[in-house]
Amino acid sequence: MREQWNSRTGFVLAAVGSAIGIGNIWRFPYMAYDNGGGAFLIPYFFAMLTAGVPFLIMEFALGHRYKSAAPLTFHAIKARWEGLGWWQVLVCLVISFYYVVVLGWTVCYLFLSFHQSWGNDPSSYFFKDFLKLTAGPLHTGGMRWPIVAANVFCWLATWVVLWRGVRAGIERVSKIFMPVLFVLVLILLVRAVTLPGAADGLNWLFRPDFSHLWDYKVWTAAYGQIFFTLSIGFGIMIAYSSYLPDDADITNNGFITVFINCGFSLLAGTMVFGVLGFMAAQQGVPIKEVVSQGVGLAFATIPAALNMMPAAGIFGIVFFLALLFAGFSSFLSVVEACIAPLMEKLGWTRTRAVSVLCGVGLVGSLPFSTGGGLLVLDIVDHFINNYGIVFGGLAEIILIAWFGRLAEMREYVNQVSDFPLGSWWAVCLKVVTPLTLGVMAVSNLVGDLAQPYGGYPLTALIAFGWALMAAIGLGAWWLATKRWAY
Ligand code: ALA
Repeated sequence: MREQWNSRTGFVLAAVGSAIGIGNIWRFPYMAYDNGGGAFLIPYFFAMLTAGVPFLIMEFALGHRYKSAAPLTFHAIKARWEGLGWWQVLVCLVISFYYVVVLGWTVCYLFLSFHQSWGNDPSSYFFKDFLKLTAGPLHTGGMRWPIVAANVFCWLATWVVLWRGVRAGIERVSKIFMPVLFVLVLILLVRAVTLPGAADGLNWLFRPDFSHLWDYKVWTAAYGQIFFTLSIGFGIMIAYSSYLPDDADITNNGFITVFINCGFSLLAGTMVFGVLGFMAAQQGVPIKEVVSQGVGLAFATIPAALNMMPAAGIFGIVFFLALLFAGFSSFLSVVEACIAPLMEKLGWTRTRAVSVLCGVGLVGSLPFSTGGGLLVLDIVDHFINNYGIVFGGLAEIILIAWFGRLAEMREYVNQVSDFPLGSWWAVCLKVVTPLTLGVMAVSNLVGDLAQPYGGYPLTALIAFGWALMAAIGLGAWWLATKRWAY
């Protein structure tokens, strides 16, 4: 008998828990920052409505209908497409390898924030002392043992929760973590917007600059962010909705999840940009000058801002606790999306699947815990987002929207949902989203071939980028050739 969520609220909180993650607090603000502040919001909301909402509803419908994780779901629709499901699972596995490392940093920073032990120059502390960042991704610089220890802690916690299963593990944690997270972020928000200078930061985030709308990179960044933040296109939401009871609503749950998630991103963005405005005012420089590097926003810029605030200890703890709660509930979903198909394919018990996966995950996270780890992470994240998720999402939408009897699926969704889906749903899935994803896929490829990503050496890009993608493709193909245990 397949496990099930205990209640609708439990499912929605778990889905929201998966969606809201470090992607909202760490990635959204720096994506917005890198893409011209307010200019980013228009493509972001456009992507949310045309791709985020319809795609999420489609994934909820798939999980609800086929009651299985991505590989078996695609197998049931067209046996030859099973490999797509494994592609998504392997993408998730790789995400788990580096996601846990960012969680590990967060755990360390939670402790550091008690006494602001990052000192007077948090940026130098983060990159030089904490990460011991090397000159390039091919220089490992040895293991960073404190980070490894934090990873072990996160994997152990994950093992405990996932071993307990869907109801007693994931649902219970989400029901505690999500409400607490909202309270923590509200505290931070009130603090941030009442800081002197905060208004300048908010202006930068919310003032639309229409000239950026002609830059396709802003659009691809927005679509990429929507897929990452909603956990769609990589098997997670299919796995989560496969535990829904037969009479569960789909459409409304989809809308609720998207709106809570994107609303949360705005709150987090407001908080971060309010703090940036404050920092700029304190230093008497323009906002652009207070952030050195997007990745360092949470771990270098925020600590620097905390140093300038009264009661820094309390706000530091609240900030890193919020990041940890948000990240951990997403991490559970990333790992669960790998565990469910393992159990289905190999007939393993949950205990066995969780134990093997957490062990493999720990080993997989080691390369990201070295002195060159951040650089490796940057490359892998770029390839996973630009190819792993984009190509996986594109193939999925083509399969379902064009070959998967979409009209029938719409009827199916409408039978169980609180309110019916209009024809806009099919238009978005058949035309708008595949077109945008297709353009993204091609432009990413052309861009990366014309100019090696991030100025990294080609060998590193081949090893951690192209070869990784090839390995995921081969692995997916190989897994699809194996027999099902059921
Ligand atoms: N959706 C998750 C996040 O935003 C993966 O972090």
